[in-house]
Amino acid sequence: SYAASAVTDAERLCPVSLAHPAYVIYTSGSTGRPKGVVVTHAGVASLAFQYIRAAGTEDAHSRVLQFSSPSFDMHIPDVLMALGAGAALVMADADTLLPGPELERLVDGHRITHLELPPAVLSVLSPDALSGVRTLMVAGEALSEELIRIWAPGRTMINAYGPTESTVCATMTGPLAGGGGVPPIGRPNLNTRVYVLDEGLRLVPPGVAGELYIAGPGLARGYRGRPGTTAERFVANPFGPAGSRMYRSGDLVRWNGDGELEYVGRADHQVKVRGFRIEPGEIETVLTGHESVARAVVTVREDKPGDKRIVAYVTRATGGGEADEHSDAKRVADWKAIQDQHYGSDEAAEDDFAGWVSSYDGQRIPTEQMEQWRDETVGRILKLNPKRVFEIGVGSGLILKKVAPHCESYWGADLSAEVIASLGQRVAEEPGLSDRVRLLDRPADDFDGIPQGYFDVIVVNSVIQYFPSGDYLKQVLLKAVEHLAPGGTVFVGDVRNLKLLECFHAAVSMRGIESGAGSAEHAAAAKRSMEMEQELLVDPDFFSALTAGVGELSSHRVMLKEQNAKNELSLYRYDVELRKAGGSEPAPHEVRMLTWGTDVLGLAEVADHLKRGRPGAFRLTGLPNARLEADLRVLLTLKKESVPDLWAGEAIDPGRITDIAATNGYRASIDWSRESPYAFDATFVPEGFDGFGGVAGTDAERAAGSGSAGFFNAPSASRPDALNTEALIRHVQDSLPEYMVPSAVVVLDEFPLTSNGKLDRTALPAPEARRLTSHRSARTPLEKTLCGLFAEVLGLDQVGIDDGFFELGGHSLLATRLVSMIRAALGVEIPLAAIFDAPRVSNIAAKVNVAEKARPALRRMPRK
Ligand SMILES: C[S@@+](CC[C@H](N)C(=O)[O-])C[C@H]1O[C@@H](n2cnc3c(N)ncnc32)[C@H](O)[C@@H]1O
Repeated sequence: SYAASAVTDAERLCPVSLAHPAYVIYTSGSTGRPKGVVVTHAGVASLAFQYIRAAGTEDAHSRVLQFSSPSFDMHIPDVLMALGAGAALVMADADTLLPGPELERLVDGHRITHLELPPAVLSVLSPDALSGVRTLMVAGEALSEELIRIWAPGRTMINAYGPTESTVCATMTGPLAGGGGVPPIGRPNLNTRVYVLDEGLRLVPPGVAGELYIAGPGLARGYRGRPGTTAERFVANPFGPAGSRMYRSGDLVRWNGDGELEYVGRADHQVKVRGFRIEPGEIETVLTGHESVARAVVTVREDKPGDKRIVAYVTRATGGGEADEHSDAKRVADWKAIQDQHYGSDEAAEDDFAGWVSSYDGQRIPTEQMEQWRDETVGRILKLNPKRVFEIGVGSGLILKKVAPHCESYWGADLSAEVIASLGQRVAEEPGLSDRVRLLDRPADDFDGIPQGYFDVIVVNSVIQYFPSGDYLKQVLLKAVEHLAPGGTVFVGDVRNLKLLECFHAAVSMRGIESGAGSAEHAAAAKRSMEMEQELLVDPDFFSALTAGVGELSSHRVMLKEQNAKNELSLYRYDVELRKAGGSEPAPHEVRMLTWGTDVLGLAEVADHLKRGRPGAFRLTGLPNARLEADLRVLLTLKKESVPDLWAGEAIDPGRITDIAATNGYRASIDWSRESPYAFDATFVPEGFDGFGGVAGTDAERAAGSGSAGFFNAPSASRPDALNTEALIRHVQDSLPEYMVPSAVVVLDEFPLTSNGKLDRTALPAPEARRLTSHRSARTPLEKTLCGLFAEVLGLDQVGIDDGFFELGGHSLLATRLVSMIRAALGVEIPLAAIFDAPRVSNIAAKVNVAEKARPALRRMPRK
């Protein structure tokens, strides 16, 4: 029933003038009581002209998306630059405007050419999106350099700034190019004037931060019904004609060398912490100056009354396209430094099992258990009847010493020059070894000068967990296969099972948790423990896929440990044989499949079957693995899930199966179950049969079913987006005074947004309460340094002087790293054993006080 024609002055209470309100818009304001900003018509024409000129919406081919809600003044430029220039304005449902794939589809589908978005929305879009957008305007909050780097190429990108009080927008940049440091907010718009003033309303020189004041006809009339607040914010303009006003924006800015303004932060975010006036914007600028940070927000929190802390929130910069090979090489070099340090220590020189520490309790794994572990591995390798062996990652020669005496030649390579040198000495002293062993110091992927098609067995035992990525592993295995003789075997030992990653961390993170499994404290510790995982874990299905995909491989076999010791090695690790085609291949057996709990009900039945039935080869599937039962229960409690049906009956230890087989004239090989990582399958073969044969069909099915990705984790330090919060804190320390350094840096995947797409400060999470066993902080500069080093190695925000290194997630290799960092920082040598014996900052500080100056590190010198 509305008329199609425009409203006339006669229909209004009085004729409309430019000074009349065009709209009233409520802003939340820092007090929490919304203020209605009364905006007149006076600024609208200039705003339209400014936008049309800057965005270039000059014709009907331009299509502008109205992204912002009509209850938010950012929608006004959308309407003005489209309709004011004869371009199309595309309006969409709120659902299709949701930041993310919906918005990307909408922009694409409607061929949008001009778009204005808040930075927070832009940061959640895929960098490949918006390909048809010629002009991208950004407004609403601070823009980061990272966003310019991603979005500016190939289009015009403009940063607009302004408060509601100056008719939407006050300043604008020209086209941004990125690479220029802090992104500017530009120069004043048409018919707008800006002043950067100090507290005494004096102009400040370029480069100095001051508060931004805005003047011109676009200023709002004031706040509706709030004369007091209006008078506070719209003040007399000493630089303009008598009676003119300027708006005090509350934003801190400075002029840069190009005559453009840079945004520094909110003046009313300025806070006092311990008597110092802190400007969060300045800290944010320093943080975003770090290459690994995309965006930063700094706040002062008071989660505990009276405890004001500066907390920084950051998102990661997407790596600048750095090649994976490069980061792999860096990671391998990191491990080399750690291994050299370890092998150079007195403990490693005296004890081959030094550094094998249990993740459950931080105690050494008992020597008898380590001997069992070694003997089982050696037994498996000797069964392959090796004559010409190449061992990659030979280490201190645990396997070499037992296997080489049976061989014609034994080549050993290791990343650590330190261990190759000491092993070389030991080998030289043993006549039975020195004639057949050749040692090389080099990384696993270097096969230069290694004879091709020569070895019958290539061993890679307890090494691949230090590989930087699944790609590196694949590359090494493929090269290894090339260097095998036909019919030879690559023995990949002691592989950590990716399918059990969560269970492992749920179980080992119980250490030091008093509140019990499933508590919030446990959940936080388990999450952190997972995130800290530094090693490579591999899904056993990877080896099926590899065998299926590599023509030169004829079969493979996955084997769980059979040793009866219960430790993380026997629970979570497995061995694999990869067989190269050729040679005298044992004929595959007809293998019958029997299901545990359906075809076979108990161990007595298995024994009976073997004794009386004397069956041929058969595979018994889906036995619940008793070794993992306790850890699985912890995981289920943590995840608040119930025990699966599989576990209704008695759980079985794999060792019992191999015993039953052996006492009845059979051999059993134990593999992970296809159904569940907490169950296993056992293949029984009568003694005297060759090998275990392939289980026809299943490998290929398994490989096909699992796809090619997802076989590996990304070890924490090798993730290209890994963000070391300690390093960020040091970065801030380098440029700002101590009182401005955040006490915690929280890494977020993305910032929480309000419905207007602006940062929702109230939804920023409190920094995770890190697991601190003690709250005693450092008392001396030395303790402070040590607490910092502990925190850095462990990736924690802070560490107290009574906190135990291993309780906080440290492990032996991290201990080695700690020792070398103490040496670098303090110039003293702390024996690795000292960290194991007395793993607290307070103990170590006492030791540092008495330690002698570090001996210079050994360096390789040219032979004279
Ligand atoms: C736990 S020890 C195992 C030693 C021996 N294979 C055994 O089973 O006793 C791991 C060895 O792998 C070596 N290593 C780690 N990453 C490597 C890499 N990328 N290339 C070659 N060796 C590596 C280490 O230097 C270390 O000596």
